[in-house]
Amino acid sequence: MDTDDAAWLSPGDAAEIRSSLTAQFAEEFGHGPAGVWFAPGRANLNGEHVDFHGGRCLPMALAHGTYVAAAPRTDGMLYMRTLEPSLDAGVQQVCISEVTSGPDADVHTITDEQPCGWTKYVGGTLWALRALGEEIDELAVDESFGADLLITSTLPVGGGLSSSAALECSAMLAFVAMATPLGRANPGAALDAALTDELRARLAAACMRAEVEMVGAGTGGLDQTVSLRGRAGHLLSLDCRDFTVERLPATGLLADHRFVAVDTGQAHWLGDGQFDDRRADSEAAMRLLGVERLRNLLPERPGTSDVAAVLSRFDERAGDGETLPSPVDGAPARDRAACRRRLRHALTEMVRSEELHGFLSDEELDAESTAMLVGNLMTAGHASMRDEAEVSFPAANTIVETAVEKGSPGARLIGGGFGGSALLLCRADDVATITGAVASACEEAGHQTPRFLEITPSDPARAV
Ligand code: GLA
Repeated sequence: MDTDDAAWLSPGDAAEIRSSLTAQFAEEFGHGPAGVWFAPGRANLNGEHVDFHGGRCLPMALAHGTYVAAAPRTDGMLYMRTLEPSLDAGVQQVCISEVTSGPDADVHTITDEQPCGWTKYVGGTLWALRALGEEIDELAVDESFGADLLITSTLPVGGGLSSSAALECSAMLAFVAMATPLGRANPGAALDAALTDELRARLAAACMRAEVEMVGAGTGGLDQTVSLRGRAGHLLSLDCRDFTVERLPATGLLADHRFVAVDTGQAHWLGDGQFDDRRADSEAAMRLLGVERLRNLLPERPGTSDVAAVLSRFDERAGDGETLPSPVDGAPARDRAACRRRLRHALTEMVRSEELHGFLSDEELDAESTAMLVGNLMTAGHASMRDEAEVSFPAANTIVETAVEKGSPGARLIGGGFGGSALLLCRADDVATITGAVASACEEAGHQTPRFLEITPSDPARAV
């Protein structure tokens, strides 16, 4: 794949990024960092808007991600700067003890007076690690701990490839390495091995907490899990009922095929309310059906007839009314037809995930058939994102339609939607033709110029 073209975003060379970030850190803070940590972004083959309903997701960690150079402080302060041009406003500071209580005594929020929204992800991560350290001794954080941090990323910010989770997870590793007994006992790369899958799962849950409680974005844990628990050459099959993972080799599928992500250039941000709005519709349906999570409505190995049965139950219970009560007491009622569409998206997406899990685990299937079956489900997933979840947008639709027209076995919008990236499956020989056609179609339709990323299933967050 010729990725020298300016339209391709390179994951860069980790050693080079480490040395230039180290030099810039010394210039900014007047002393060297204690280390550099990296956490990857993610692409998700299927399972969008279902993690918070206990569905299955099939993500992979990317080679692209976020790097944090950091040094400890002993005054409980975070001094941090991002080198991302669209966010950089010089060094920002957060006093970790001033992370205040919100209106609800149990909910802590960093005040909106903070100059830069992105600092909430970092401050929130330290806050969540402190709370976790109260349960797990080896992760206990020193009382006076603070840090200087310099951040850079090879992910498009707001590109729907989990730039937020990559920031949280890279900062999390830096904090664990510098502030906890586990980090001190395992310097440098030794920490990667010391962090068992079980501990990584706990750290992922803490990062998710930071995003939900500090940033106020209704994330469901998919992004943080794959950033901390992915594996090179593998897709994760993540069961969000209990966050257990199976790692399924992608080698067969990627023998003759490649995954390409297309950043539409339309940024998305989970905290802007649209994501939560869709989630609220599906939760209103859940409430009507009397379950704790939508996955409980389907059997272990669900099929389309199970989806149909749940939808008729929904119709019976919803009756003729135009609305359903909100999942939040006292909030405005939700449109009944919209709730039904969100429900249908979630259920069919769960069925697709179970089918994909089956295809990707089936050793008898040849690579070509696997690619065709996977591709068909990807494109079906896109249609559902467009028509049922209603989170797609014109540029993503143009990209998916063009890719499929030019011979891609399958393509879809990934992530939360309302902006972000699409994922294409392409025969290796067709990558240039398909991405060329996608770029021309976007230009003709007056969409922003897309940028492409080669997606290689990669290792999880680590010391660099
Ligand atoms: C965002 C959230 C995830 C997940 C996806 C949609 O990336 O952070 O938890 O809900 O959207 O699948």
